[in-house]
Amino acid sequence: MVCKHPDIQEKIAQEVREATNLKDNSSIDELADNLTEETLSKMQYLVAALTETSRLYPAVPLNAKVCSSDDTWPDGFSVKKGDIVGYHAYGMGRMKYIWGDDAEEFRPERWLDENGLVQQESSFKLIVFSAGPRICVGKEFAYREMMIFSAVLLGSYILKLRDENKVANYRTKFTHHIDGGLYVQASPRFANASSLRRYMP
Ligand code: HEM
Repeated sequence: MVCKHPDIQEKIAQEVREATNLKDNSSIDELADNLTEETLSKMQYLVAALTETSRLYPAVPLNAKVCSSDDTWPDGFSVKKGDIVGYHAYGMGRMKYIWGDDAEEFRPERWLDENGLVQQESSFKLIVFSAGPRICVGKEFAYREMMIFSAVLLGSYILKLRDENKVANYRTKFTHHIDGGLYVQASPRFANASSLRRYMP
């Protein structure tokens, strides 16, 4: 999404660099060293962009549950013990009924209030991490991982699609896969950006 929206990529990079007090001659190590609870908490636009990406491309695109007892839902619909009930996070993330007319647009701003702070949303509406008693226990951890990785990557490199005309197709599995992968080119934002390889397992 940041390759398709270079203005948003730039905005995230600026936020990361400002939050971590980075200068043009700083190195990627200095950026990584400056990622603390305090600096990460200033990256509200990054959180909004990650949330918006997961709304449109949820890592778990569909999910199902087995009813443990008979029940009647608030809208009057009845289910029986043993029924399987599925929900489609990918579809729900695109419903105008839920998100409004611009549901299919990638717009991180929809998550920010007038002070630029991320607004909380019901996990039953943004169903990406599931909801209720069996909500993902790793949600906060996942956000931390995504933020740290994106901040180092986008603060240090400009990403472009290797093939601007490539259409990403998906393989529906338990988790969302891009069919054949998606190749991007990374060029350093500043002279001291060292190899990314050392940040990879
Ligand atoms: C973007 C990253 C992630 C997404 C989108 C995600 C999404 C989900 C979803 C949808 C479920 C519900 C599965 C179900 O209904 O059976 C779930 C459950 C779970 N997740 Fe995650 N997850 C993510 C990352 C993580 C991480 C990093 C951890 C651990 C550090 C984690 C640990 C768990 C566990 C233990 C459960 C089972 C909770 C339970 O059944 O009580 N997840 N996750």
